[in-house]
Amino acid sequence: MPKPLSPETGRAALRALFKEKSPLGPLKVMAKHVGYFFQIPIPGFRPYVVFGPEAVRKVLVTEREKVLWRNTDPVTDLLHRGVLVVDGEEHDQYRKLMEPPLHPARLADYTQMMIAQTDRVTSQWQEGKTVDMLIESRKIALLIIMQALFGKDVWDDLPKIWDPILKAIKYISPGGWIIWRKIPRPGFRKPLKELDDYLFRIIEERKRGEKGRNDLLQHLIDAGLTDKVIRDQMLTMMIAGHDTSTALLAWVFALLGQHPETHVQVNLEVDTMEKSPLLDHVIKESLRLYPPIHIGNRRIAQEMDFNGNKVPKDERLFYSIYLTHRDPEIWENAEEFCPERFAHGRKTPPMSYIPFGGGPRACIGAAFGQTEARVVMTHLLKTFTFKFTNHPIHPHMGATLEPRPGVIMKIEKRNS
Ligand code: HEM
Repeated sequence: MPKPLSPETGRAALRALFKEKSPLGPLKVMAKHVGYFFQIPIPGFRPYVVFGPEAVRKVLVTEREKVLWRNTDPVTDLLHRGVLVVDGEEHDQYRKLMEPPLHPARLADYTQMMIAQTDRVTSQWQEGKTVDMLIESRKIALLIIMQALFGKDVWDDLPKIWDPILKAIKYISPGGWIIWRKIPRPGFRKPLKELDDYLFRIIEERKRGEKGRNDLLQHLIDAGLTDKVIRDQMLTMMIAGHDTSTALLAWVFALLGQHPETHVQVNLEVDTMEKSPLLDHVIKESLRLYPPIHIGNRRIAQEMDFNGNKVPKDERLFYSIYLTHRDPEIWENAEEFCPERFAHGRKTPPMSYIPFGGGPRACIGAAFGQTEARVVMTHLLKTFTFKFTNHPIHPHMGATLEPRPGVIMKIEKRNS
């Protein structure tokens, strides 16, 4: 059993909750006071939490057959048989179908499209006005993922699908259902149905129309999956493939805004070099400090043991990416923004830097997501100046870890 929390730890956790305006504060307190294995003490919600390379390797690699991805959460209700939430052979079948269009060798094919979609979003910006880079990044990421994977240009449809997509994300975000699984959730049925209808129309259009495409949608259709299962994979990829990139882009802007010296230096490199190493390091450091997916959620299929601490069958287990990335035993100045730490290759142990998870079920879109961040950031920084309006930002635990209330920046077009 994990050590019970002392009253002092409980009080420190509460203080951290108010100070950091996020449950990440109490998580850090519990990690510090209790260690690499603890249980969250909320009535009705008592998941076990592990972090650090040793535990992460167990969950992701050496004892992965003891855990299931499929939980009884809204994400499973929404994605049904999506590759993210199924286990075993069914998972492997879908994953194999979806890997080719995301293979690193294909990424160069997407670069020009990523730039063009970014330009469409910025074409609506007004000189000298402010934009919220959390919202703008979502538009860019959505246009890119839909075009890359399903050959669908959603620009004209954005006003129609925007709310249903935000509703789908809200549906799977932490909320009252965590404690009371059957809590009434009004207001979701209609928008989620609209989103389904939209995806089914894309499938139907493709089946009736153009043949010979080589994108993810075509791979799914050619494999003979039912429309229902194709919809499950599409919705999975649409959400997993854009909500994460949205958070990453927005955090990179937030961190550049909060660190003007680095911002100036990145701009200089972007202007004068073909590829900016510093931008790469900023993206990596952003993924360390604010990993868009900050925990992995599992159900225990067979009892697990972490240094004598048992997690019984059927319990919920989180492996914390956030805590692993901020472990002071591993990372020097763990809480500090320090992109230079990645300048000479990472020196921390394997499984200590896991923004894309690890093992056979590591993120299928890791290479795509990193290329996208680099291409979009480089293009935006070359085209506009971004002046941060210096407002407070805190990490919000939605479906991903987002900078809230947003990242408000004043923009001006650059001359060259
Ligand atoms: C910055 C961008 C991204 C980040 C930080 C990220 C992070 C992650 C993480 C941490 C996992 C593993 C979660 C776990 O172990 O529980 C994961 C899995 C996954 N990601 Fe990503 N992701 C990103 C982009 C993408 C993109 C662009 C796509 C699709 C094109 C995608 C699709 C998926 C899918 C389908 C899985 C499940 C894989 C499986 O179970 O086999 N992600 N992602």
